[in-house]
Amino acid sequence: MRARSALAVYSLLGLSAASTSNDSDPVVKNANHIFNVIHDSMRQWGSSLHHNGVSFFLATVPAGTQLYHGTSESDPINGTEWLAFEPEHAMVFARPRGGPHGPGGPGGPHGPGGPPPGEGGDNEDDEHRGEREELRRRHPHGSTEKDFGPPSFEDLEESSTGYLHTYAAVQDLRLLYIDGMSAAKTQKGTLDSQDVLLFNGTIDNSAGRGPGGEGDRARKACDMAEDDWAGRIDGVLRMEAGFEIILCKFERDLLPVRITQVKSRARDEHEKTGGGWKKDEHHGPPDGKRRGPGGPGGGPGGGPGGGDSAGWMRAVTARYDDIGANRVFINYENFVTAFAHDVDLFTEDPKLPHLSHLTYSELKPIQKEVTALALTHDARESSWNWRATTDAVVIRYSDELTYLASTKISTIDALHEHIEKLLSPFIDYSERDAVLENDRCATQFLPVQLQGGKSMAARAVYNVAHTVCSTLLEAWVEQELASAQNTIQTLIGDLAWTTWKECRGCEVNEICVVPIWPMGTVEDYNNPQCKPASNPYDGNGENYWGGMHP
Ligand SMILES: *[C@@H]1O[C@H](CO)[C@@H](O)[C@H](O)[C@H]1NC(C)=O
Ligand SMILES: *[C@@H]1O[C@H](CO)[C@@H](O)[C@H](O)[C@H]1NC(C)=O
Ligand SMILES: *[C@@H]1O[C@H](CO)[C@@H](O)[C@H](O)[C@H]1NC(C)=O
Repeated sequence: MRARSALAVYSLLGLSAASTSNDSDPVVKNANHIFNVIHDSMRQWGSSLHHNGVSFFLATVPAGTQLYHGTSESDPINGTEWLAFEPEHAMVFARPRGGPHGPGGPGGPHGPGGPPPGEGGDNEDDEHRGEREELRRRHPHGSTEKDFGPPSFEDLEESSTGYLHTYAAVQDLRLLYIDGMSAAKTQKGTLDSQDVLLFNGTIDNSAGRGPGGEGDRARKACDMAEDDWAGRIDGVLRMEAGFEIILCKFERDLLPVRITQVKSRARDEHEKTGGGWKKDEHHGPPDGKRRGPGGPGGGPGGGPGGGDSAGWMRAVTARYDDIGANRVFINYENFVTAFAHDVDLFTEDPKLPHLSHLTYSELKPIQKEVTALALTHDARESSWNWRATTDAVVIRYSDELTYLASTKISTIDALHEHIEKLLSPFIDYSERDAVLENDRCATQFLPVQLQGGKSMAARAVYNVAHTVCSTLLEAWVEQELASAQNTIQTLIGDLAWTTWKECRGCEVNEICVVPIWPMGTVEDYNNPQCKPASNPYDGNGENYWGGMHP
């Protein structure tokens, strides 16, 4: 009791003196959000939960990294196109173009603007209907007896050939990483950082320019790279069901590694419908390849939610925790985020930031900062890996905070005892000092030369660690269990770490399911669960995303 009240006195005095808060400094005010921006970067998990990105980073994909493109074309692609990090993502687009429902991309056969990976104009059902119509057109004599059965494999294969292109980066690719689920064509704000901020409201979503304005986005990004960013950026890095790159100059920046023909959907379908495909496979160049006019890239159907989503989601969710294999380096020392500006991003939704309500005078300084970032910094300049530091903090305290706020703690003494265990490494028991204890705790994961750093990341990470530690100190002097636990629960709410939504212990044939556009339900968002990997999105419940953009 004696120790506790002594602590109470100096703690209250000490903590207020030590306060680092500066209400007029947006970096401090939004430290929790900026911390999460860093923590979520290049992670399928965090970027799916915090899907409205308002930040821009410089990123490098090292020379030699293999990247994938799925298409109806068997020749190497020239010009601006979409690249996936996971082959399964690209394979969704390794399909014939066209059919009656195919969206014709703008810009000619190899200009920018084909539908990107993850973008199809039609759904799978329409696609198959399209294939069937196509077959009927090609076989007008379909009323003869033998054509009443399922179409022969040759018939089907002719109309369903696609290619998986594997490329290697010729040199380090210099990219602008647009965070969150920025390739998701939704109306929930996932496109704000591009359409509102980067492109200043000029994206043309009208039909014929690629679904959801993607063609226009690609063209404008590459124009900006050339004109506004002085050729210092080679493309943009975004995420949907998988990370992807809009690369401006395929022929300059990539070396084809191989171009392979994928298993035709027709063959799949033929096998499934008992067509009994038994012949030797033939891999010759198919002459049935269609080369109609229109855009390159994927054809109709597929995209996220297409029939292949089960196999694809395994590959994509394997990247929940990181893109992996050192395929992307991010400059965390210098980046741009709207959270560091004095604007209110939460007027539309208290949890998800938006940019669409901002005035031009609010947007302009952020736009200028993006330009300055691209013109004056480099993804390869030396930079501390602040994401690793956020990880250390999150992993150390995520479960501890949950435990402290839980019913597993039943008395205030038990709570105090556990907090003391957590903080004791930072206490000099011969000379208690809450300010020092708080600071030692907050800087545990920072090498000394980085302490007191002035970069946005340094300040935000320190601020969050400081808040965690100061809240523990506060709860230590509270006398009521409910009130102490409430203090910790409020902290948990403010921090909004994505670890608190992770599933625990999925079976080997399960994945932890969170909405990834256009799949997933409201319940999947609020309460992610382990679900069968063969059918992760069972479609029951209210769709999280609503309609497609626009
Ligand atoms: C608070 O932050 C603002 C904006 O960054 C800055 O101009 C001001 O000097 C800071 N005040 C203190 C007391 O640190
Ligand atoms: C790209 O350009 C090369 C060289 O000019 C050419 O051989 C190739 O066919 C082109 N690719 C496509 C898909 O047109
Ligand atoms: C951006 O949009 C605003 C509002 O529509 C307009 O006033 C401004 O001139 C635009 N700026 C640029 C650089 O295009």
